[in-house]
Amino acid sequence: MNKASKRIAGRTARAVAEPAVCPLPRMQISTDFWASKTLAAAHDLDIFTHIADAGRATAESLARALRVALRPAEMLLTGCASLGLLERRGDRYANSAVADAFLVRGRPYYFDGGIEMLDRRLYPWWGNLTGAIHANRPTTWDPDRQGSLFEGEGPVMLAVFWEAMHSLSTFTARVLGEAVDLSSYRRLRDVGGGSAAYDVELYRRYPQLTATVYDLPFVEDIAARKIADAGLSGRIQTVAGDFFADASLPAGHDVILLSMILHDWREERCREILRKCYAALPGGGALIVSELLVNDEKTGPAPAALMSLHILIETEGRNYASPEYGGGCARPASSTRTRCGSTRRVRTGRSSHARPDAPRVRRSARSARSGAGHRAPGASADGTHAR
Ligand SMILES: C[S@@+](CC[C@H](N)C(=O)[O-])C[C@H]1O[C@@H](n2cnc3c(N)ncnc32)[C@H](O)[C@@H]1O
Repeated sequence: MNKASKRIAGRTARAVAEPAVCPLPRMQISTDFWASKTLAAAHDLDIFTHIADAGRATAESLARALRVALRPAEMLLTGCASLGLLERRGDRYANSAVADAFLVRGRPYYFDGGIEMLDRRLYPWWGNLTGAIHANRPTTWDPDRQGSLFEGEGPVMLAVFWEAMHSLSTFTARVLGEAVDLSSYRRLRDVGGGSAAYDVELYRRYPQLTATVYDLPFVEDIAARKIADAGLSGRIQTVAGDFFADASLPAGHDVILLSMILHDWREERCREILRKCYAALPGGGALIVSELLVNDEKTGPAPAALMSLHILIETEGRNYASPEYGGGCARPASSTRTRCGSTRRVRTGRSSHARPDAPRVRRSARSARSGAGHRAPGASADGTHAR
């Protein structure tokens, strides 16, 4: 090294102080996609079904079955084991409980649609998140040619989107059924109800409920199929509708559900949907909004904050904070639930144009006026508690 370069090296060493924090969390964030792609590859190769059929697999037997070399077969098995998807017993690998329940073809809760949608449909678009931030408009479809994500009922969309929603919503619906007591309601309208996952699960918990899924015409068949599969065609109906094009929502229901709807739309459109829901409810009726809410400080939680960026590439909306839904309808109570590592906040509000003689309604309207939306986390106006 000559004198000049020594001087430069010396200056650099003095100028750059070593960071006081460890780089591992940053590294973890940067490499999180390795885990998601490992799962996607294992799912593509259907190794969990293979292992379930065979009982267990060695690296050699899997390599033979997949017709791949031993080296990548062993690496994939090790990768899946490191993620808790496989368990090693002796020289063999078996599915973990999670893999066995959700990743084996033909199982009732096979998570096929979710993995397909995230990996095949969305992963490439997430590769251009920076572009979506610059564009401030959806990038997964062309807003100059389509009115919304949901007008793109192409075969890929039809095949995977609602299937993916179904696999997720089935579990959220169970949590909702525990968080919100629906035992005093009789008729549920699931606005934008998609595959009817909520209606099926809520009926199982509250058999006094009948439900109607209200969604775009081409979604009706998807919902009807799932309802028939659940053997509930007599209890759950479907009706085609469009919450923007229809002047009002059909009346005759005492509880309305909006699950993963409002985050798809910009604020004035959310207000339009909320107004129509509110107008369709009778006195004492309830509106339930179920989605991932960003906290009031807008610092997280990560599932909601990252979902919001996902919404950036997919729609005109964003994941809102609870106070942003204030106004336009009765002030809601809120409760927070955590399950399976994600937090989804469930908000319930009773219609405040309720008959004044209905005590339950009066109580709710009072708590609404006194700011029930800011009560302690976990407690709601109707006394339901959440974990
Ligand atoms: C993110 S999915 C949520 C599905 C379901 N609520 C769930 O949580 O599983 C949004 C749903 O809104 C429906 N939707 C979109 N635009 C709509 C409109 N204008 N009128 C009625 N439904 C609509 C879509 O077809 C889709 O099923």
